[in-house]
Amino acid sequence: MALNPFEMAKKQIDIVAEEMDLDPNILPFLKRIERSLIVSIPIMMDDGTIKIFEGYRVHHSTIRGPGKGGLRYSLGVNLDEVKALAIWMTWKTSLLNLPLGGAKGGVCVDPFKLSKNELERLTRRFTAEIINIIGPDIDIPAPDVNTNPQIMAWIMDTYSMQKGRTITGVVTGKPVEIGGSVGRANATGMGLYFVLQAMVEKLSLDLKSLKIVIQGFGNVGGSIADLLYKHGCKVIALSDISTGIYYEDGLDIEKLLAWAKQGNLLKDYKNDKYKLIDNDELLTLKCDVLIPAAIENQITEKNAEKIDCKIVLEGANGPTTPEADKILNKKEIYVVPDILANSGGVCVSYFEYVQDINSYFWKLDRINEELKRIIIEAFEETYKISEEKHISLRTAAYIIAVSRIAKAIELRGIFP
Ligand SMILES: NC(=O)c1ccc[n+]([C@@H]2O[C@H](COP(=O)([O-])OP(=O)(O)OC[C@H]3O[C@@H](n4cnc5c(N)ncnc54)[C@H](O)[C@@H]3O)[C@@H](O)[C@H]2O)c1
Repeated sequence: MALNPFEMAKKQIDIVAEEMDLDPNILPFLKRIERSLIVSIPIMMDDGTIKIFEGYRVHHSTIRGPGKGGLRYSLGVNLDEVKALAIWMTWKTSLLNLPLGGAKGGVCVDPFKLSKNELERLTRRFTAEIINIIGPDIDIPAPDVNTNPQIMAWIMDTYSMQKGRTITGVVTGKPVEIGGSVGRANATGMGLYFVLQAMVEKLSLDLKSLKIVIQGFGNVGGSIADLLYKHGCKVIALSDISTGIYYEDGLDIEKLLAWAKQGNLLKDYKNDKYKLIDNDELLTLKCDVLIPAAIENQITEKNAEKIDCKIVLEGANGPTTPEADKILNKKEIYVVPDILANSGGVCVSYFEYVQDINSYFWKLDRINEELKRIIIEAFEETYKISEEKHISLRTAAYIIAVSRIAKAIELRGIFP
């Protein structure tokens, strides 16, 4: 049975608490969830029938600022998954030292089975149901698995209609025409690229000569594949939910992206040179860099021993279980943790939020420059602690993130 992500997130906290000798009074604060809202979302389907879906919004911590985290539409969504994802957001915003907390949301639905109008009604009703716990100074949702800028636009519009004025800062990842930020769409991929460059430099490797494997070909997997390809790197395999494809000399990412952008799946892509492989095979291919960029729980104790690469760069949230982490550490594989590797998205979301509040918009050069500065600072700090204490990059990143939260708890004290 797949590991419960909430249990996994709590286990990770225990590991770091022991490593940093955390005050036992602080530990329960880190594991508790500030608030969870479960809502039912009735919508009228196009054929006149009514269907009811369940949705969630969770705030793990707002101790350092408003909650921040994506919104996911998928049949796999449940409260424990959303709680885990909210916890990881707290560490991510803290590691980057952003004045934000950790939150997440989701609806248990297969969005591909809804028409565009049904999707809009679902989104608007869900927004109305969670309206009291979101807002620019409360909690700011963003896109995640199966949600996109159009969905963010509907959320912003619904929220604004209820408040009687346009409030762009309620969500990030909006279209640029209505308060979105340039660079947001590819920000997670861009952050992954900056971190990979820095990691490769530390190991004295040459990025262009490395063989790279990517699981997932959506927002994150697609944008890192695109950047790597444009910089002359070799992606030898990638996958989406339908299949994996493999070609030792390097896949033509430009053509594959054009194919995927038309709504096609990789299993239907025709190229005689490309071999179809399943996701399990893909993860255990011999390569230099493995980028899991699909969903959580992909590298587990079942396949960790067979992982054959130098670097795992976590594009997805929670792709490696704690048991698998131990095995990878023993195999001396560098695992660049999700809270660092994929934090480019939340970083540029923060820039979007700042731009919305100020009603003043930046150019792409500024976005990428500031993103690089913030993410590389977090990388260097993490790498230094990991080397000094002889601990994994994950534990080092957690020590930095948890220390900042612990300090905020200590300074604020307990109300009343
Ligand atoms: N979108 C962001 O900015 C962002 C930022 C940080 C982290 N993340 C994380 O990255 C991951 C991917 O998010 P995304 O926004 O790219 O989602 P997405 O929906 O755009 O893409 C997901 C991809 O994974 C594939 N996939 C789904 N289930 C799979 C499975 N069981 N096996 C193999 N492939 C599967 C899909 O076919 C698709 O190609 C998630 O863990 C998300 O939380 C996203």
